[in-house]
Amino acid sequence: MPLLDVKDLRVWFHTRDGIVRAVDGVSFSLERGETLGVVGESGCGKSVTFYSMLGLLPMPPAKIESGTAMFKDVDLLTAGGAALRAIRGRHISMVFQDPMTALNPYMRIGKQVMEPLLAHGLCNRNEARRRAAAMLEAAGIQDAQERMNAYPHAFSGGMRQRAVIAMALVSQPDILIADEPTTALDVTVQAQILALMAKLRDELGMAMALITHDLGVIAGVCDRVMVMYAGRILEEAPTALLFRRPRHPYTRALLEALPGIQEAGKSLRAIPGLPPEQGAPERGCPFAPRCDVALPECADAVCPLMSLDELAHRTACIREHRAAGVGGGVRS
Ligand SMILES: Nc1ncnc2c1ncn2[C@@H]1O[C@H](COP(=O)(O)OP(=O)(O)OP(=O)(O)O)[C@@H](O)[C@H]1O
Ligand SMILES: [Mg+2]
Repeated sequence: MPLLDVKDLRVWFHTRDGIVRAVDGVSFSLERGETLGVVGESGCGKSVTFYSMLGLLPMPPAKIESGTAMFKDVDLLTAGGAALRAIRGRHISMVFQDPMTALNPYMRIGKQVMEPLLAHGLCNRNEARRRAAAMLEAAGIQDAQERMNAYPHAFSGGMRQRAVIAMALVSQPDILIADEPTTALDVTVQAQILALMAKLRDELGMAMALITHDLGVIAGVCDRVMVMYAGRILEEAPTALLFRRPRHPYTRALLEALPGIQEAGKSLRAIPGLPPEQGAPERGCPFAPRCDVALPECADAVCPLMSLDELAHRTACIREHRAAGVGGGVRS
């Protein structure tokens, strides 16, 4: 049984300007110890997918229209505030893009890293202090004992993110959700933080969901990748397979837009057009208007995410479905 099993998740925003289908029929799972990359352009629903499960969205305007998100035997979508608070920061932790939003500027670093242990009653103060120092040390903060007395402003951006990671991991969660954890950092620090997260993931045996708009970040760290676009998953595959043989035109376009990946002599290609502002369309493939190989029927065909082979390569492209001889119900 997967550690996290999400089925048919729909999260829509009911705004004055109409409905935004931010997440529209998303199904995926996360196994123990596995790292799942979640990639896609800005606004495609990556954050909303995970925030909805942890009760971090304003409702209204957000509404969960359908779905289940089973963590062990709890459905996170219906669990309610108290149950979610017991899970959040204890069994499922988050690291956000900007460390300053996760840190309280007026509270000493050490106290903040101890907080999850004390809030969830996992140990007494002395033990919490000891564990927090050890976790900060493991996260690459030298002289952690002393540094625990510092306030966040005395830390560099990279050190703050290390502290936030220590805070997220001190309770030894089953799942770490990292939402663009390195976007605010410069490139060398980015690489260090990613390596640190991978190392701690292995040491603690936890599962990780790494949300990013950068496929380059995915390559070194993730076992599996899911590609989101306009509130849907368009492709999902083991990382090496996705890079070697992308099976959705959107994934191919993302790869062609990635510096250093395309064939020598081929220039970087931007994807023309913009994702739809209202999220997923009511009918058809959301990428069809920007797709250079779209078939006439892509505009209104049913394009479910389907498995192409035993390697768990899933795509929502009906061209690929046809080529692999899977699926029915496709109008031609
Ligand atoms: N409070 C809100 N009210 C209305 N729409 C919202 C709200 N929060 C998010 N959305 C919409 O939901 C969609 C998905 O947003 P989400 O934050 O999940 O994107 P994302 O993939 O995480 O993008 P980014 O890479 O920029 O973080 C977007 O179209 C966004 O405008
Ligand atoms: Mg986001």
